[in-house]
Amino acid sequence: MEQVSGWALLFTALVIPAAGRYTPDWSSLDSRPLPSWFDEAKFGVFLHWGVFSVPSFGSEWFWWHWEAEGQEQYQKFMQKNYPPSFTYADFAPQFTAEFFDPESWAELFEAAGVRYVVLTTKHHEGFTNWKTPVSWNWNSVDTGPHRDLVDDLGQAVRKRNLRYGLYHSLLEWFHPLYLMDKKNGFKTQNFVFGKTMPELYDLVLRYKPDIIWSDGDWEAPDTYWNSTYFLSWLYNDSPVKDTVVVNDRWCKDCSCRHGGFFNCADKFQPGTLPDHKWEMCTSIDTWSWGYRRNMQTSQLMDESRIISDLVHTVSLGGNYLLNVGPTKDGMIAPIFQERLRAVGKWLSINGEAIYSSKPWRVQKENDTDSVWYTCSNTSVYAIFLQWPEDNVLKLPSPIPASNINVTMLGISGTLKWEPYADKGLSIALPYVPSGALPMEAAWTIRLEGVK
Ligand SMILES: *[C@@H]1O[C@H](CO)[C@@H](O)[C@H](O)[C@H]1NC(C)=O
Ligand SMILES: *[C@@H]1O[C@H](CO)[C@@H](O)[C@H](O)[C@H]1NC(C)=O
Ligand SMILES: *[C@@H]1O[C@H](CO)[C@@H](O)[C@H](O)[C@H]1NC(C)=O
Ligand SMILES: *[C@@H]1O[C@H](CO)[C@@H](O)[C@H](O)[C@H]1NC(C)=O
Repeated sequence: MEQVSGWALLFTALVIPAAGRYTPDWSSLDSRPLPSWFDEAKFGVFLHWGVFSVPSFGSEWFWWHWEAEGQEQYQKFMQKNYPPSFTYADFAPQFTAEFFDPESWAELFEAAGVRYVVLTTKHHEGFTNWKTPVSWNWNSVDTGPHRDLVDDLGQAVRKRNLRYGLYHSLLEWFHPLYLMDKKNGFKTQNFVFGKTMPELYDLVLRYKPDIIWSDGDWEAPDTYWNSTYFLSWLYNDSPVKDTVVVNDRWCKDCSCRHGGFFNCADKFQPGTLPDHKWEMCTSIDTWSWGYRRNMQTSQLMDESRIISDLVHTVSLGGNYLLNVGPTKDGMIAPIFQERLRAVGKWLSINGEAIYSSKPWRVQKENDTDSVWYTCSNTSVYAIFLQWPEDNVLKLPSPIPASNINVTMLGISGTLKWEPYADKGLSIALPYVPSGALPMEAAWTIRLEGVK
């Protein structure tokens, strides 16, 4: 750190913070610039892990579908496999995590090319993956793994310079205080001040997260959740005030309107370039975020689908948060590992067009739907998802200067090109020997000197 004179310190202490403080209202909070690391990171992995990973049937909403909705397939599953008196809480001791090796998870994520990891610290079931004074006996230290999962994963992830985000559900389906507040039309805040807020402050002070990925906000207004007060503390006074980013799930009707980056809906994908930083969250298992023992390969996204989703998202200015559900014993299924490593291989060649890129003047070529653009200060990147049959890639949008360079990432040498139509380029694609590129799901042309 640089030496700062006493006068400068005094000046900073007296003047800057007072002027730069956020007030607990959306117009002030929404004016905070998003810390730049988040946009640069582009790609993260999302982990849904909790007591729902024990039945690992249906989805992470198991408890709700079974007991609140009484859905038949869940009733049958319980009748067939568990004694009649078995409760949801009885699953917790079976959340054993005996094979959980945070180092090998972190190694996998690094190989996948993600720059951040987001873990469910508490889903709507209320079970916390760390121990807090307000989640007595319903946490991963007192029962189940008998480990602080949030801390163990965080240490391994940060050793590899990945950012660490914490998912946290504001609501809990069956918490008695929440149900009481709900019955009172959210006029009382017993649950918020007795549970949710103590947890959020504890998570921030203990683990200093890079992201708070909030969820479970949709039933109650911001005045109930008191979320603007929490965020003003987070931005003004917390130990992560300069680096933390948050999403938009902080109250009923907050989504897509308030907060840091926008998730809008799960798996949201805008058709055109949004004017606000956003993130698409999606899951390799298209049926569930939590692990399902009976998933079928046909229900999973394959490598090409994942890579094309990533490309669409980044071209449209988004980040891509890709979910896998670990098992109750702490494993990430080999098929998920394979998918993640495949994306990492693709990024090892094409990452230059993804990380720290910006959306370009044009996001995609409409006539094919398979060419998407990103750019850096010096280059425009055309990422194409289908290899043209005649080996000629036609790009109507870029306007070439007289002296330009055209190359393909991962292949040496420059490519020949000709003007196309009234302004674009028509590029002779190189011969790519089989095996020269580790993943042939999409290819990137780097254009230097185009407008
Ligand atoms: C939110 O919490 C802060 C700090 O505890 C408190 O001053 C404020 O009145 C609360 N707001 C609401 C709407 O309850
Ligand atoms: C593609 O279509 C969209 C929506 O109609 C339009 O805004 C955009 O300019 C078009 N892009 C190109 C490259 O023609
Ligand atoms: C690109 O521009 C930004 C600011 O506009 C600058 O911070 C960055 O260093 C530049 N990158 C390169 C590779 O020139
Ligand atoms: C093309 O590449 C050469 C050699 O790397 C470089 O000197 C030149 O500046 C590049 N041209 C453009 C337009 O970027």
